Amino acid sequence: MMLLLTPRDVAQIVRAQGLAGALQRLASAIEADFRRWAAFDKSARLASHSRDGVIELMPISDGVRYGFKYVNGHPGNTRLGLPTVMAFGVLADVATGAPVLLSELTISTALRTAATSALAARALARPGSRTMALIGNGAQAEFQALAFHHLLGIDEIRAFDIDPAATAKLRRHLQAVRGLRVRACGSAAEAVRGADIVTTATADKTRAAVVRADMVEPGMHVNAIGGDCPGKTELHPDVLRRARVIVEYEPQTRIEGDIQQLPSDFAVTELWQVLQGSAPGREHAQQVTVFDSVGFALEDFSALRWLRDSALELGLGSAAALVPELVDPKDLYALLEHAPRQATTPVCAEPAALLST
Ligand SMILES: NC(=O)c1ccc[n+]([C@@H]2O[C@H](COP(=O)([O-])OP(=O)(O)OC[C@H]3O[C@@H](n4cnc5c(N)ncnc54)[C@H](O)[C@@H]3O)[C@@H](O)[C@H]2O)c1
Repeated sequence: MMLLLTPRDVAQIVRAQGLAGALQRLASAIEADFRRWAAFDKSARLASHSRDGVIELMPISDGVRYGFKYVNGHPGNTRLGLPTVMAFGVLADVATGAPVLLSELTISTALRTAATSALAARALARPGSRTMALIGNGAQAEFQALAFHHLLGIDEIRAFDIDPAATAKLRRHLQAVRGLRVRACGSAAEAVRGADIVTTATADKTRAAVVRADMVEPGMHVNAIGGDCPGKTELHPDVLRRARVIVEYEPQTRIEGDIQQLPSDFAVTELWQVLQGSAPGREHAQQVTVFDSVGFALEDFSALRWLRDSALELGLGSAAALVPELVDPKDLYALLEHAPRQATTPVCAEPAALLST
């Protein structure tokens, strides 16, 4: 039977492994999958754009398992009391097509994005990096800060958000983390000044230039995660022009990443090449490096694998009978004949209909 994991189950997995341990295991799973890049059947995600946001489907398969994620991006959602990003995903058995896992992926997306950012930064940031500017202090921010703290040794975060309440929330959540200091800054330029790493995690469906070329110092690594949709960018094109740019999956990033602002022959390197050792990461101390991250299906596939293995180890989650259990697999109709008669009000009735009954 298929395993169902809710946000509460995923929170329990993280609690059991500790956030540092969970990020470490997830980063190892993502790195292992990037290293076997050729094994995957890959495609750019399928996006359905609307005025207020985007809904995307992200499929991938390694020939043994097939996975997909449903995810949205609606920057105006927080005003409605909803997160900007919400997601769930499925892992299925390629040999039979049977789904084996249905899981929440909202928390998991934040975890895998942060783990992937830290993996890329390990290869691209200057060795010994200690300070990180964090611009955009919303839902992803704590995860980014903690992944860079635990996996890279970042001990100072310089935080900036146009919404001071978001920065206050970030400081409140991280104040008890030993060995990590969070300093609120009055502008993006102030946060970036002197930092080793610059992470941008803003959400605005516009061609923004949160980081300009005059803000970037030699040797900085820019981890840009918020420019992930056509017409939605964070870096001024001159930041990219003077940098070594690493992407996840070039066909998708050309459409969605910050490099959408540049000609299609602008040179980029894919992350798997760097992690496999077939292309260099940082080439010299003065080089500016950019990880133009948009989020790729492989990272969610790794996250789904980690979630299933962890849940089975810890005895978490519940069995969900989403697929019919048939005595005779050719006799689907029998299910209708043996269904119990519905005596109560249908659960999907409109609230108004419920009130009038
Ligand atoms: N690359 C990936 O894999 C990946 C994964 C998840 C989310 N994302 C993207 O990351 C971004 C952040 O996601 P989130 O869930 O934290 O969103 P969120 O809405 O919770 O937070 C975004 C924050 O950015 C701030 N902001 C907007 N414009 C700003 C600006 N010009 N300067 C400073 N701050 C600004 C907002 O006030 C808000 O606090 C989104 O764009 C999302 O699409 C990317």
